[in-house]
Amino acid sequence: MRKKIAAANWKMNLTFSQATQLINEINPFFEELNNKQANVIIAVPFPILNQIQALLPPNKNVFIAAQNCHHILSGAYTGEVSAALLASLSIPFVIVGHSERRQYFNETNTIIKEKIDILLANNIQPIFCCGENIALRESNNQNQFVLTQLNESLFHLDEVQIKNIIIAYEPIWAIGTGKTASKEQAQEMHHFIRQSIENKYGNHVANEISILYGGSVKGNNATEIFNQPDVDGGLVGGASLLANEFVSIFKALN
Ligand code: PGA
Repeated sequence: MRKKIAAANWKMNLTFSQATQLINEINPFFEELNNKQANVIIAVPFPILNQIQALLPPNKNVFIAAQNCHHILSGAYTGEVSAALLASLSIPFVIVGHSERRQYFNETNTIIKEKIDILLANNIQPIFCCGENIALRESNNQNQFVLTQLNESLFHLDEVQIKNIIIAYEPIWAIGTGKTASKEQAQEMHHFIRQSIENKYGNHVANEISILYGGSVKGNNATEIFNQPDVDGGLVGGASLLANEFVSIFKALN
């Protein structure tokens, strides 16, 4: 069964006291997830992973995540954080391949593949981001581009491993721009991604993988996007920093 998920990506925002305040404002609303069989994941900066995790309700539907990890197990990589360390801190999810990491930190499909392997080896579920830029969309090359990302970073996995991946389709032109993909554009790409998984692994695998949409999801557009048949929720940046916006978003999970 595909899970419905609203994932927050706080990126490099908030001080510790602001983060604490935000979680405390959202906390009372997590109750509602129980009735919906939906999940919330909150991806926070490294230093506050365990502190924020400790503030989440003892509710099995709300999880903490890291926003990145290094692709090598351990060693002389000053400033980096290993999957093994995250596993030892009981972090269940890590975002990999976010377009900001690809753009500003030169992460390639190969490096992202290595991160995925090392996370799975440490029993952490990767949230794998993919998506095209505006030039690829305008030249109608988005499907081929996303398929290459899937092929080069994910499709080496076996059937058991790939079921542990959450995919987030995030068109770069929609991230932080206020320009959301239309519900038709989101559905079309999500269907293409699911079909690509089906072609490789079969229908029983494709129907188990949650595919989230990311890119300017807000309280007022979440419902129409989440209602698309192949959209299983969202990965939310800016709007996840505002308690009332994020609560409306996870309430929109159906
Ligand atoms: P946004 O970011 O919601 O601010 O567009 C989404 C993301 O980068 O995950």
